[in-house]
Amino acid sequence: MNDRPITTTDSGAPAGSDENSLTVGPDGPIVLHDHYLIEQMAQFNRERIPERQPHAKGSGAFGTFETTHDVSAYTCASLFQPGVKTEMMARFSSVAGERGSPDTWRDPRGFALKFYTEEGVYDMVGNNTPVFFLRDPLKFQHFIRSQKRRADNNLRDHDMQWDFWTLTPESAHQVTWLMGDRGTPSTWRHMNGYSSHTYLWVNAEGVKHWVKYHFKTDQGVQNLTGEEADRFTMTDPDHYTRDLFESIAGGDHPSWTLHVQLMPFDDAKTYRFNPFDLTKVWPHADYPLVEVGTMTLHTNPTDHHAQIEQAAFAPSNVVPGIGFSPDKMLLGRVFSYPDAHRARIGANYQQLPVNRPRNPVHSYSKDGAMRIDLTSDPVYAPNSKGGPAATYAGQPEPQWETDGAMVRAAYTLRAEDDDWGQAGTLVRDVLNDDERERLVSNIAGHLLAGVSEPVLARAFEYWKNVDADLGARVEAAVRAG
Ligand code: NDP
Ligand code: HEM
Repeated sequence: MNDRPITTTDSGAPAGSDENSLTVGPDGPIVLHDHYLIEQMAQFNRERIPERQPHAKGSGAFGTFETTHDVSAYTCASLFQPGVKTEMMARFSSVAGERGSPDTWRDPRGFALKFYTEEGVYDMVGNNTPVFFLRDPLKFQHFIRSQKRRADNNLRDHDMQWDFWTLTPESAHQVTWLMGDRGTPSTWRHMNGYSSHTYLWVNAEGVKHWVKYHFKTDQGVQNLTGEEADRFTMTDPDHYTRDLFESIAGGDHPSWTLHVQLMPFDDAKTYRFNPFDLTKVWPHADYPLVEVGTMTLHTNPTDHHAQIEQAAFAPSNVVPGIGFSPDKMLLGRVFSYPDAHRARIGANYQQLPVNRPRNPVHSYSKDGAMRIDLTSDPVYAPNSKGGPAATYAGQPEPQWETDGAMVRAAYTLRAEDDDWGQAGTLVRDVLNDDERERLVSNIAGHLLAGVSEPVLARAFEYWKNVDADLGARVEAAVRAG
């Protein structure tokens, strides 16, 4: 017992007792000046911070990314130079459920990475799917609401989900993916991660390539059937969280190999479909995978709240050598995440240990609630007092040119821009007979759980547009009940 530390109050003074409140005699009332009891109650009442709006349920770990291949011809980003090892962390999540929701509900999975590079924090905030449901950020809020809970009974509602999807045909590729085997991964460790978006890489000479990231699991892709996922939902709702933590604790360190697809800058102007459309992949045959390096997760958090719940990922966190693209969804996200963090965590969220850069920060931000870093003069720029000076001199700019009148319009259509084509390719050319059979059964099961006319009729049309045979089989399965 003697080597145990003495309990203290939060101000560091010895606490009177772990067990007894201060009372007037053993049987009398509690006195108001038992500030230690009050501190215990008050801190407890403030333990929760708002959960993330989407992606509330998740878990994560710390690790290292090592660049094993030379991609310096494509980017001057310090973390992607040959041989460089960068400390990083990952958070995996589901999207629609709340913080206590079962891990194995059918959903896309978040795949968020934070790299502490020597030139700032770089966040790659992706999913386990290479595409998304939408191509304009104005629809995102509506989409997420349709996947969460109704206003009246506070229930999730498949009719609402399919109402939105069938009125949003660009969702077809992602919904096909979601209803397939990969909609219920075995564990976080057995799924791939994708940037989904196109980013811009620029090398030291200023040469630019558009880039998509593919983190392929070295554990192999493994999925649960719908029935297996339902079983975990009942028997171990925290299955993914437990699996990741226990694997790392047991010395089994999961890893992923990063590959990229690279499109020369000028190809984008004439490619047969809009390469920035988030509902489409770039076929491997056109842009093959180029290996970059390996990420290994080797260290568990010791405080889930401080290190995972307060982790704040933002697509706006890019570093020299990496830029954005004209993908409207990405540009919307660049605004949205820091705003979410200021609301969820507070203005100085980037100073928390899990979020703070490992390189020195010389920003002019100051003050605000819970400020940790000390501000020094001068507090303005420009100044003649030796304060930091922003200069991009010598740095290649990861930007692109654009011009035109301001409009509210969808992307200009190119020869092969459509909503159904790549979803159909996935069904016909990638899935085998067994996978197609499970796809039909998963879709039909989902539709039978509360989808009514006229949404049901639109759902049959939706799947016939993806693939006539698939649509007919889905309709037959639903009609057979
Ligand atoms: P490929 O045959 O070269 O690629 C097919 C890819 O599909 C595989 O590499 C694999 O991606 C992925 N895949 C395999 N099984 C499944 C499954 N059950 N559910 C979902 N995805 C699976 O063809 P293309 O590049 O021409 O793409 C054809 C279709 O494949 C696309 O329309 C798209 O739906 C899908 N796809 C394409 C990707 C791409 O970036 N080109 C990436 C993933 C899927 P992985 O190796 O990444 O696991
Ligand atoms: C989380 C907005 C699209 C991946 C979030 C959060 C917001 C948000 C507000 C919660 C952030 C927080 O509170 O910490 C948006 C908007 C989108 C969009 C406005 C489109 C316009 C996407 C896409 C992807 C994605 C396309 C993947 C390619 C994620 C992930 C998280 C997340 C992984 C969880 C990050 C974490 O683990 O903390 N999103 N999102 N989102 N989003 Fe998006």
